[in-house]
Amino acid sequence: MTAFDYLPPLSHDDQAIAPDHGLFAVQPLTGGLGAEIDGVDLAKPLDDEMKSALRQALLHHLALVFRDQRLGPDELVALGHAFGDLHVNPFVAGLESHPEIMQIRSEENEEARFAGRWHSDITWEERPSLGSLLYAKTIPPYGGDTLFANMYLAYESLSPTMRRTLDGLRGEHTAFQGHARDAAFAEAPEKVVHPLVRTHPETGRKALFVNEYFTRGIDGMTSDEAAPILDFLYRHMVRPEFTCRVRWGEGALVFWDNRCTQHYAANDYPGSKRLMWRVTINGDKPY
Ligand SMILES: [Fe+2]
Repeated sequence: MTAFDYLPPLSHDDQAIAPDHGLFAVQPLTGGLGAEIDGVDLAKPLDDEMKSALRQALLHHLALVFRDQRLGPDELVALGHAFGDLHVNPFVAGLESHPEIMQIRSEENEEARFAGRWHSDITWEERPSLGSLLYAKTIPPYGGDTLFANMYLAYESLSPTMRRTLDGLRGEHTAFQGHARDAAFAEAPEKVVHPLVRTHPETGRKALFVNEYFTRGIDGMTSDEAAPILDFLYRHMVRPEFTCRVRWGEGALVFWDNRCTQHYAANDYPGSKRLMWRVTINGDKPY
């Protein structure tokens, strides 16, 4: 390999559409990941066949976009429960009536926002999230998109030597990385350690599992040693070929897999308000 190597063509066709089951239409967003799903009313209880088809679509496309949904808090919580137990964030207050619903709220003139760094949700937990469902309540007239990146492709496009090197490493994650260390975070674990490369428990595929927001080092390395590896990975893992960008509309819902993707909220809507509701599905311990 030389310094002039280009990224090889993506070796795995993640976006090939599965055989038509007649339950909904699937339109991939890019060659990297993501699909629009048309023909599902998420406010209605999902039967087993629909749940299983949506889970298969999620495992295949990693981020599913549903448009024009009408969900109250009960419907959103029921939808999340269809795919697992829900996380209650100890640091960010949820809706009073529904603590599982985290409000991601940006006011018109607020500068500090939930935005601006690639991450996978709650990797500072021993058992990070399986997936998140984010529902758009109020959106700016333009801007505030969310970008997603495919961590399988990020891993698979590395050289065999780099993959072998990373396979043995473990990343240190902390909730303090992305937030001010204040009393609200006093109960958070100081750090948790996860493999830098995890095996997806349902697909068996390996994915990079390290992120700029919550990862603060590599277990057993000095920060000087870890920094160039992490810097390289943070640049590599979000190459445009691995990503898609979702433009929100009111009533849009995105369901993504936190085990093999990362996301980024663009903070490009100064003077506008944005309100999203999120439910976060509990996952298992990465291996
Ligand atoms: Fe997030």
